[in-house]
Amino acid sequence: MSRTGHLRNLFSTTYGTAPTLAVRAPGRVNLIGEHTDYNDGFCLPMAIERDVRVAIRPRTDKTVRVVSLEQHGVVTFELSAAIPKATDKAQHWADYVKGCAQILVESGESLVGADLALTGDVPLGSGLSSSAALEVAIIHALLTAAGRSLPGAQIARLGQRAENKYVGTNCGILDQLSSACGVLGSVMLMDCRTLELTPAPLPAGVSVVIADTGKRRGLVDSAYNERRAGCEAGAKALGVSHLRDASLHGLWDAERKGTLSPLARQRCEHVVAENGRTIAAFACLTAGDAVALGQLMDQSHNDLRDKFAVTCAELDDLVTIARALPGCLGSRMTGAGFGGCTVSLVRDESVQAFVAALVPAYRAKHNLPIVVDVTRPAAGAGALNLA
Ligand code: GLA
Repeated sequence: MSRTGHLRNLFSTTYGTAPTLAVRAPGRVNLIGEHTDYNDGFCLPMAIERDVRVAIRPRTDKTVRVVSLEQHGVVTFELSAAIPKATDKAQHWADYVKGCAQILVESGESLVGADLALTGDVPLGSGLSSSAALEVAIIHALLTAAGRSLPGAQIARLGQRAENKYVGTNCGILDQLSSACGVLGSVMLMDCRTLELTPAPLPAGVSVVIADTGKRRGLVDSAYNERRAGCEAGAKALGVSHLRDASLHGLWDAERKGTLSPLARQRCEHVVAENGRTIAAFACLTAGDAVALGQLMDQSHNDLRDKFAVTCAELDDLVTIARALPGCLGSRMTGAGFGGCTVSLVRDESVQAFVAALVPAYRAKHNLPIVVDVTRPAAGAGALNLA
C-alpha cells in the first residue's frame, strides 16, 4: 500500500471517519551555503523527495487532535489555550505541532479545530530538515482546515518562529523556506536577507547523492546555538549588522587590532568565504559547470571541518571515502553538522557503482546504519491528492 493509503487508514481507524483534505511538505538538502542563513547570507538548497504528509478533517470546535503513523498515541489540545515552551529535554513530536498552532494563533490567524493524521519519511535528526517539514506541513494543514492560505515565505517564517520559540533551536530560515518554496527540478539560490529565491536546474549528467552517517545529534543540545551566538558577536565586533556585510580583510584587520579573537576570526572566516562560494556555486549551475561546483562543495566541507568545527569523524570519513570514488565531483556535510548526512555530486554513469562502494567502505570504519538516497529536486509544500 502507498504511504498515502496507510495515512488514510490511520485516519479512519483513529477518528472513525475519512479525511477530507491533505497536504505535504518536503525535507531539503543544502548543496552549499552552510551556517550562512542566520548571518543573512546565501544558501543553495533543493527540496527532496522525502516529505511529511498530513490528512485533515476540519472540526466545528477549537480542538486539535493529531496522530502519527510513526509515533505512539493521539495528542489533543485546544487552539485557545496558551502552550508552554518545550524544555530542551522534553522534545516530544507534538511540541512541534502545538508550537505551530500557537504561532498561528499569535499571528492573528483565525483557525478552526481539526483532526489530523500524519506520516513522514524524512529521517529524524539527519540534517534533512525533518522538523521544518513537520512545521511547514502542520501550518499548511491548519490553514487549509480553516480555508486559508498564505504565501510560502510567510509560512516559512511562521515555522521558523515555532522552532525558535517552542522547540528551542535558534535556527535560520534555510530549512523552512526550502520546504515551503521548493521548485520541482531546481536548486535555489536563497538570499536569506530578502528571502528571494532564484531557481536553476542541476547541470546535465550529474546526480545528487545523500548519505546518512547514522550518527544522530539533536540540534538543541548541540553547539548550534553557540556557533550562532559567536557569529553575532563577530558581526558586532566588526560593526556590521550581520556577517553577510563583512569581508575577509575586515576580519583579519579586527584580529590584528585585538577586537576579534583568533578563534572568532576563524569561525567568521568560514561564513564570509562560504557566502562567496555559494554565489560562485550558483554561477557554476547556470554555466552548467558541475566540476567547479563539486570543487566548491569540497572547499565548503573543509572549512566547516577546519574553521567552523561542526563536522565529526563520521562525516569526515564519509566525505573522504566519497571523494576517492570514481565519478564523484564533490562531497560535503549538509545541514547543521555534528552528525547527519553528506551530500555528493556524482556523474550519472557512476552513481550505481558509487553507492555500491560507499556503503561497505563506511561500514568498515563505523558500525552505523548508513542509508544512501539518490534524489531529485522536489516541489515545495502544497496540497496532496488523497486518492
Ligand atoms: C540547520 C538550521 C538551518 C541552518 C543549517 C546550517 O539546518 O536549521 O537554519 O542554519 O543548520 O546551514
